[in-house]
Amino acid sequence: MSSGLIHGRVTLFLLLVLLPISLAPEAMAQQSAGPTVPLGLPPIPWPEDNPYSPARAELGKILFFDGRLSANGVVSCAFCHEPAHAFAATLPLSIGVDGKFGTRHAMTLINRAWGKSQFWDGRAPTVEAQILSPLTNPDEMGMTTDGAVLKIRSIKGYAPLFTAAFGDSTITYDRITKAIANFERTIVSGNSAYDRYLAGDKSALTKQQKDGLDFFNKKGECAECHAGHNFTTEKFANIGVGMDRPNPDPGLAGITKKRSDFGKFKVPTLRDLTARAPYMHDGSVKTLSAVLDLYAKGGEPNPHLDTRLSPFYLDEETKRALLAFLDSLNGEGWQKITPPSTLPH
Ligand code: HEC
Ligand code: HEC
Repeated sequence: MSSGLIHGRVTLFLLLVLLPISLAPEAMAQQSAGPTVPLGLPPIPWPEDNPYSPARAELGKILFFDGRLSANGVVSCAFCHEPAHAFAATLPLSIGVDGKFGTRHAMTLINRAWGKSQFWDGRAPTVEAQILSPLTNPDEMGMTTDGAVLKIRSIKGYAPLFTAAFGDSTITYDRITKAIANFERTIVSGNSAYDRYLAGDKSALTKQQKDGLDFFNKKGECAECHAGHNFTTEKFANIGVGMDRPNPDPGLAGITKKRSDFGKFKVPTLRDLTARAPYMHDGSVKTLSAVLDLYAKGGEPNPHLDTRLSPFYLDEETKRALLAFLDSLNGEGWQKITPPSTLPH
C-alpha cells in the first residue's frame, strides 16, 4: 500500500473525528437551508463561512437600514439603495455624508447572490468584501471600520441580535459584513411572466411580448450579453455610455489598467427595470425607450466600442414589443422586504 493512500486514510479519519469539535459556535447558531427562491432562480449559493440563518439576515437588514453606521448618522445603505426602488437609487448619481455627488449610479441590489463580481467595474469579489468601499468612502458613509464597530458596540440593543446571529455577543467588523451580506443574498426577484413562460406556461407572455423576446434574442442580439437567469453574462462590455463626455469614466480599465478595457462596465441584470430608472453606470439614461434608441444607433461611438453592437432599424411597433418584453421581466421577492419597525437602542 502506498504511503499516499495511508496518509489519505489517516487524514480522512482525523477529519471525521475532529469535524464535530471544529464547528465553532458561529456555525452552530441555528442555520437553515435558506429562504425558498421564486420561480426561475437557482438555489441561493450560501458561502461556507457565511451560511444563511434567519437571525443573521435579520441583523443584516437592521444594519442595512441603520444610518448610525455612517459619519453623519443618516447615510445608511438604504439611503442610496432605496428599497421601494428595487434597492437602486432614484438619483442618477448618489450623494453621501459630505453632500457631494459621486460619479456612479447606485444600482439595484436584487439577485446579488448570484453576482460573480461587485460594482460597475467588478472590483470587489463578494458582497462581504464590497461593504468596505461604501462604508469608508468619504463621499459615501465616511466611516472607518473601527469607527463602525465602536458605534455598533455602543448601541446596547445590538448585543442580543449578534448573539442570535453568531452564537455570542462579540461585535466585529467581520460579523457586521457577514450579517449585511447574509441579508443582501435574500434580496431576490423571480417568478416574472417570462420565468413562468420558460417554465412551460406558454400563455404567460402576450403575442407582443413574444415578438419582443424574438427580437431580443435574434435581430437585437441582446442575449449576447444579457443572458441566463439574471440576464447577464457577468462580463464587461463597452456600449459607449458616457464616452462622449470629457474625461470619461475608464470603467474596468481603472482596475486592470488595460487600454482595451477602457469604458467597459459590468453587464447589469434586466430584471425589474421599470421599478428602478434611471439606467446605466452614470444614471444618464432616463427611460427604457431612450436605452433602446441608444442600441438602435449601435451604441455611443468610441474607439473601444464592443464589436457585437451594430445599428438596427427600430420601428415603433418593434420598440413597443421590446418594451413589453422587458416588462415581462418584472418579478417578485424584494417587494416583501420592509424596513425594520424600530432600530436597536
Ligand atoms: C452614498 C450612496 C451609497 C451608499 C450609502 C451605499 N452604496 Fe452601495 N453603491 C453605491 C454606488 C454609487 C455603487 C456603484 C459604485 C461603483 O460601481 O463603483 C454601489 C454599489 C453597490 C454594490 C454592487 C452591486 C453590483 O451589482 O455590483 C453593492 C452590493 C452595494 N453597493 C451594497 C451596499 C451596502 C451593503 C451598503 C451599506 C454598507 C451600501 N451599498 C451603501 C452607492 C451607495
Ligand atoms: C455587448 C454587450 C451588450 C449587448 C449586446 C447589449 N447590452 Fe445592454 N448593457 C450592456 C452593458 C455593459 C450595460 C451597462 C453599460 C453602462 O452602464 O455603461 C448595459 C445596460 C443595459 C440596460 C440598462 C440596465 C441598468 O440596470 O442600468 C438595459 C435596459 C439594456 N442594457 C438592454 C439591452 C437590450 C434591450 C439590448 C439589445 C438591443 C442590449 N442591452 C444589448 C451590455 C450589452
